[in-house]
Amino acid sequence: MTSRPPLSNGRALLITLGAAAVFFLLLFLIPGPHAARRISTLRPAGIPKVAESPAVLFATRCTQCHALPALTHRSTEDWRILVLKMNRYMKQTGRQSLSEEEASLVTRYIVQNQK
Ligand code: HEC
Repeated sequence: MTSRPPLSNGRALLITLGAAAVFFLLLFLIPGPHAARRISTLRPAGIPKVAESPAVLFATRCTQCHALPALTHRSTEDWRILVLKMNRYMKQTGRQSLSEEEASLVTRYIVQNQK
């Protein structure tokens, strides 16, 4: 009789390793919430990504060098110029900076929330 031999050890090992490889591939390819957070914090400066709220931008970008600045009253134009100046400092010192759109979002946020 020529029935097929049972699975050899070698083949069984290959199948197991193959299944393990597929499992780990899927584990790394399907991003969970943690992976997404890790990617967003590792993101190099200047690459646009999912929008951050103006409040978060203000709280994170504006505290890279000094404490959160007091929002004392200034004109919109003064804040606009100040945010641009701060953004220039960020770029000059290699810190995470603001895109043009983010800078105007932060400026608007400051103007709306200043005392
Ligand atoms: C790269 C470092 C850095 C970052 C990031 C930064 N600042 Fe500054 N900031 C400075 C330095 C240096 C000064 C003091 C020198 C000056 O005023 O130009 C300053 C001063 C200030 C002052 C006082 C200036 C004045 O004329 O009274 C305010 C207000 C301020 N920053 C707001 C902000 C805001 C808002 C952000 C976020 C958009 C920010 N900073 C981000 C470095 C930074």
